[in-house]
Amino acid sequence: MSTLYEELSRVSTYEYSEEEVREFEALHEEIRALKKQRNAVIVAHNYYRPEILKVADFVGDSLELALMAQKVRDADVIEFCGVNFMAETAKIVNPSKTVLLPNLMAGCQLADSAPAEDLAAKIDELKKQYDDLAVVSYVNTTAAVKALSDIIVTSANAAKVVRSLDSRNILFVPDRNLARHVADQVPDKNIIPWEGFCYVHQQITPEEIAKIRATDPELEILVHPECRPDVAKLADAVLSTSGMVRYAKERPASRFLVVTECGLSDRLAMEVPDKTFLKGCKLCAFMKVTTLEDVRDSLLYMRYEIDVPEDVRVPAERALQRMFDATE
Ligand code: 13P
Ligand code: SF4
Repeated sequence: MSTLYEELSRVSTYEYSEEEVREFEALHEEIRALKKQRNAVIVAHNYYRPEILKVADFVGDSLELALMAQKVRDADVIEFCGVNFMAETAKIVNPSKTVLLPNLMAGCQLADSAPAEDLAAKIDELKKQYDDLAVVSYVNTTAAVKALSDIIVTSANAAKVVRSLDSRNILFVPDRNLARHVADQVPDKNIIPWEGFCYVHQQITPEEIAKIRATDPELEILVHPECRPDVAKLADAVLSTSGMVRYAKERPASRFLVVTECGLSDRLAMEVPDKTFLKGCKLCAFMKVTTLEDVRDSLLYMRYEIDVPEDVRVPAERALQRMFDATE
């Protein structure tokens, strides 16, 4: 029995047979050889399938992946195992690199809920009302939306970034649940939320979380800020995906309920085998659409290249750089 089979067996989202895991190992070999040939670096989001995380050079949340992409120097290619807005962000901050997204179906419903034309109209309307309006966009937005924004935030730094702004009136795009979370933490700002939400996190109800907790009162509950406010209220900590990883490693507690996309508890089960991670989670179809074969084919055929036109990239980069500066 291979070590990889043992590791993947600790993960509960997918049950792989030994034969499937042997195929993964063969694909890992091919991917490593192609990575060398293409002089590529593979980065992956925490929600990706575990067999893809195992071949990545770096795994992280949206903020860590953006910072990592900005720092890539020696590699020519960034193989981005994430969703479209994350790959766009990598291209925005490091335009001389070839950025590949292995499967073009890997979009984000939350990002799509804020079309740039609608945002431009909303900004015009609100600027008539508020002289000091600041447009704060979550990183889960298209490049065109970032280009219209004053500053970007991620789930790891949203409250800190908003607190750092001089403006009192903030249009917060597109996640209303994250907007509410920020408003609770920064009460002196007038947060005007865009009415978007993530279909994955929105499905999680306080009833199902309370039911799991009732079976195990010792559990520490970790909740992603894209969850509904009545779910966030039940949390011991509201954190970004990598924030949850750090928290679970550092805390003395040994049992956690992980309330976000299911990939995160899979990563935790593999990386922190001496602790227990219960799932209060749902699956994101966009994060799970990419397979290990897609990653191999992407490096083999150099597809699908992500491009951002310069007139969008430059203002989008400015908004992202402001976020990096506000959180360093
Ligand atoms: P993180 O930045 O916390 O990893 O979240 C990204 C995301 O898409 C959550 O749904
Ligand atoms: Fe987008 Fe939600 Fe999927 Fe994250 S979990 S990528 S916000 S659809």
